[in-house]
Amino acid sequence: MRTIDWVDGAIELIDQTLLPHRVEVRRVTELPELIDDIQRLAVRGAPALGVAGALGVALIAASVRAEGGDEELDTAEVSRQAAQLREARPTAVNLSWGVDRALSKLDEGADEILAEALRIRDEDIAACISMGLIGADLTRELTGKDRVRVMTICNTGSLATVERGTALGVIQTLLEQDSLVEAFPLETRPLLQGARLTAWELQRMDAPFRLIIDSAGPFLLSRGIADAVFIGADRIAANGDSANKIGSFSLALAAKHAGVPFIVVAPESTVDLSTASGADIEIEDRGVDEVAGFGGVRTAPEGIGAVNPAFDVTPHELITAIVTDRRVILPSEGQSPATVPLGALRS
Ligand code: MRU
Repeated sequence: MRTIDWVDGAIELIDQTLLPHRVEVRRVTELPELIDDIQRLAVRGAPALGVAGALGVALIAASVRAEGGDEELDTAEVSRQAAQLREARPTAVNLSWGVDRALSKLDEGADEILAEALRIRDEDIAACISMGLIGADLTRELTGKDRVRVMTICNTGSLATVERGTALGVIQTLLEQDSLVEAFPLETRPLLQGARLTAWELQRMDAPFRLIIDSAGPFLLSRGIADAVFIGADRIAANGDSANKIGSFSLALAAKHAGVPFIVVAPESTVDLSTASGADIEIEDRGVDEVAGFGGVRTAPEGIGAVNPAFDVTPHELITAIVTDRRVILPSEGQSPATVPLGALRS
């Protein structure tokens, strides 16, 4: 089942807020619904947001065309609505990338916009397969082991993409190649993408794994529980600094301390050469409610404030490797997305 797709003239997506208890596909026919689904994380994860952005522009163009009858497509109106979609969440560059790529076909009409959005969907599927293969080879090389134990955070699996996943896609590939001893997903407070989504995916793929609480990750790395850490990314700056789910930075520090490779896995669409460094990445703050309670149950006193960054930035010095669908970059050895050419693979 695809996480997000275009079906009979509308977007269909798995509502991830209901997992792991219910698998429900939502049919989205209007822009406000899509923006709301993005903001409440019914659809989430950087690559899936890229596809949502592109399919969203296709949805906009189809509805503007329908309203305009036989008239030429009102491109100003499509651009105006697409700008709202672009702003739905700020950190993952894939969202604006997907919107902009679909918009690049604006002058060619609604059908060409949809064709471009479907290309983005298909490219995501192919990119995840490549990242899995490249990442699995690199992991064996960096660890010097044929079979590995790995730690990961958030959800970077099929639910964060169209079909297969980035960091979790590497873990799935390791499993398929009989190279996975055990995975350790972090539960990932405050919205529990690790406990709700990654554990659900790992169970469905029949992978050996045990769930751990976020604060146990660094300590367990120091005790040698894992041979490598894999994370995804929401935006990778030109110097290699990488934004990802809050908690990634602590894992990177701990991995460095433990001498364990720390590997970022993301498609090229997550690389943003127009952002010089992590300091320039806008980090979404999701407000007090997610911190002060869970699932509608208040756990903190009423009337308190909270700081709730959804993401952090791991400095490139702490990143052993960035694996994309088209290259391997070694930031801790001085390489960066700005200097390593597409196509540069190590194995
Ligand atoms: O807030 P979310 O759930 O959208 O955050 C997602 C992440 O941080 C993922 O790790 C990232 O988008 C990469 S997904 C392949």
